[in-house]
Amino acid sequence: MTKTTDVVALNDWYVVTFADEIALGHSERTRLLGQDLLLSRDAAGAFGCVMLLDDGAQVPVPQVVERYGFVWVTLGEPTRDIVSVPEFADHERKFIHRGRIGVPTSGQRIIENFFDLSHFSFVHTGTLGAYDAAEVPRYAVEFRDQDSELWAIGCSFVQPKASAVADLSSTVYYDYRIPSPFISIIYKDSLIRQGRKDVIGLFIQPLDEERCTVHSFALVYDERNSPTHILHFYHEIFAQDRSILIHQVPRKLPISPRREIPTISDASSIAYRRWLDRSGLEFGLDRTAG
Ligand SMILES: [Fe+2]
Repeated sequence: MTKTTDVVALNDWYVVTFADEIALGHSERTRLLGQDLLLSRDAAGAFGCVMLLDDGAQVPVPQVVERYGFVWVTLGEPTRDIVSVPEFADHERKFIHRGRIGVPTSGQRIIENFFDLSHFSFVHTGTLGAYDAAEVPRYAVEFRDQDSELWAIGCSFVQPKASAVADLSSTVYYDYRIPSPFISIIYKDSLIRQGRKDVIGLFIQPLDEERCTVHSFALVYDERNSPTHILHFYHEIFAQDRSILIHQVPRKLPISPRREIPTISDASSIAYRRWLDRSGLEFGLDRTAG
């Protein structure tokens, strides 16, 4: 597949690497939206990026920006800025870079799984959920900023071990934010700092419609555990998600409500699919009618 012509996809911002993953003076081939890229870092640390065309030509990508420690590019003309996550500047939180993980499915499948509450008890048994507490309490869905962001708010779930620092099972409250079809961020009540939120996010790099690299991070209050220990906690969780994601068919996310039967706990999933439909996005979606 060659570069997509989907302008909705092209006009968005995507993480293509964590800055520290490319040494000074080095370059790395990567891919975005079906387009091969060469990402390079000069001796002073500045990033550049070119599209590698089939005829051998190299064309600079329109914009390359380093923000939050990640390198962002767009292949089009974005109408808005890179997502604002002010918590990156709060140094009381531990920043955990969760690495990049390849997943052979669409970015939308990964995002939808991330905010699906009903899978906790069955996929993350013993940490984010338990068999005897599988009910999903009601929550609300909101569209914000002229429909540019989807939020699921007032979510709660009984979690045996909600984070690396959790000692006891507790009901955990959180909100999900989806500021782009390929980004999801959780704001989850800190278990040790009352009134504060841990922030956990996924920045999806869609290589192709059915193949992605997931760049993820956590900004958590945790003075007890080492970053490595916290990282292991999250890697175990994501390995469980990945084992589910690789078996979902079709890999592109179906948009028609008749393709997959939703239940009451899927309010955020239904909203996500309708929101994607309204956006005009084609890349990574299965728009076959039911
Ligand atoms: Fe999960």
